[in-house]
Amino acid sequence: MIKDKSWRFNGNERKYVDEVLKNGFGASESGSMNEKLERKFAEMHNKKFAIAANSGTSTLHMALNAFGVGPGDGVIIPALTVAMCGFAVWQCGATPVYADVLRDTFLMDPEDVKRKITKKTKAIMPVHMYGNMCDMNKIMDLSKKYGLFVVEDCAECFLARDDKGTKSGTIGHVGSWSFENSKHLSTGDGGIVATDDEDLATKMRQFGGVGFKNIGASTGKVRIDRNKFQDPSYERHNMMAYNYRMPELCAAVGLAQCERIEEFVNLRIKMAEGYLEAIKDSELFVPQKVQPGFVNTYWTFAARFMGQNYGIKWQEFRKKYMEFRGDGIYAAHQTVNNEPCFRDNKIGYGDVPIAEMLQKELMLFTTNQKNEEERTMQMQAMEKTLDYFKNNKS
Ligand SMILES: Cc1ncc(COP(=O)(O)O)c(C=O)c1O
Repeated sequence: MIKDKSWRFNGNERKYVDEVLKNGFGASESGSMNEKLERKFAEMHNKKFAIAANSGTSTLHMALNAFGVGPGDGVIIPALTVAMCGFAVWQCGATPVYADVLRDTFLMDPEDVKRKITKKTKAIMPVHMYGNMCDMNKIMDLSKKYGLFVVEDCAECFLARDDKGTKSGTIGHVGSWSFENSKHLSTGDGGIVATDDEDLATKMRQFGGVGFKNIGASTGKVRIDRNKFQDPSYERHNMMAYNYRMPELCAAVGLAQCERIEEFVNLRIKMAEGYLEAIKDSELFVPQKVQPGFVNTYWTFAARFMGQNYGIKWQEFRKKYMEFRGDGIYAAHQTVNNEPCFRDNKIGYGDVPIAEMLQKELMLFTTNQKNEEERTMQMQAMEKTLDYFKNNKS
């Protein structure tokens, strides 16, 4: 059965896309769609600056570059994340240093980060995996003590909160999000960064905006004075750079998606609560721990699958679950150090035994169900699968 996914784009998306086309990709009186999206996103996070880009990998690269990360530097990233975190470090010519994760939260272990800091370390990249926030207090203590920059990778984490109610992405020097289609908010592909630091904002925007020298922290406009700009003697670029700009059509979709962020986040939390209830008496699962007082916004519901203790294979459970009309269960990506592009090219270092153990066990359940009917279908699949293995295996 092919599910209808258009409900995610039933707000103002089409209206704003139409505005872009009507304006012939030029800005309206209230600014370009990129400007509107950036203003909205910055406001939502109480940040001075937000800069939209074409992906959440580009935004990580923009942030690290703005920190001055370059050849010879080390950036500490958790091993249990996606390769893109490591790519962003490599794109700067720097070395990813792999930190292990905590067995219960599946998130970057600040103690292991501390052990792996050397004179070469320039930055730390905590990744709020699956919608759950890392212990930012401890990471910021390390940042202050050792003078390190911090970019929070919130690609999978919109509007999560710690025990003080502080939102994900607002604690480090830069917060970075992805709008890739599977994420809480989608522009098909896209990303955004937010910061209070004007210097970092300017550098990020310039680096992702093909290095036009008159790009500022708050605007991507390059033709500040038309007469000066259209003069043969005018010099435009003062830095080597990339074109990471977000297309206006994507920004139009992003703006409309932002207007519905609470709805999207709450739907995912609701689905996750259903899974938690369904597995609460089962010994087959240990769900990702949420620290007391924290709010996980569940890009996915992540749990360790303990079937190996009962002779049930990972794929066997998944197959049965899908036979009972459950959505596909996703596996965690290989730890970054074990992806062939890093492993075979000997890029990066650092032992990460817990991340490697968890990676093999984790099951990631979808949380983007649109309504009660779809949620019930997942719950029933889970209950039937658990029953099946209880009756057939124990
Ligand atoms: C944790 C994490 N970081 C970074 C990325 C990269 O984002 P994008 O796919 O938008 O480049 C993703 C998602 O794909 C992600 O899940």
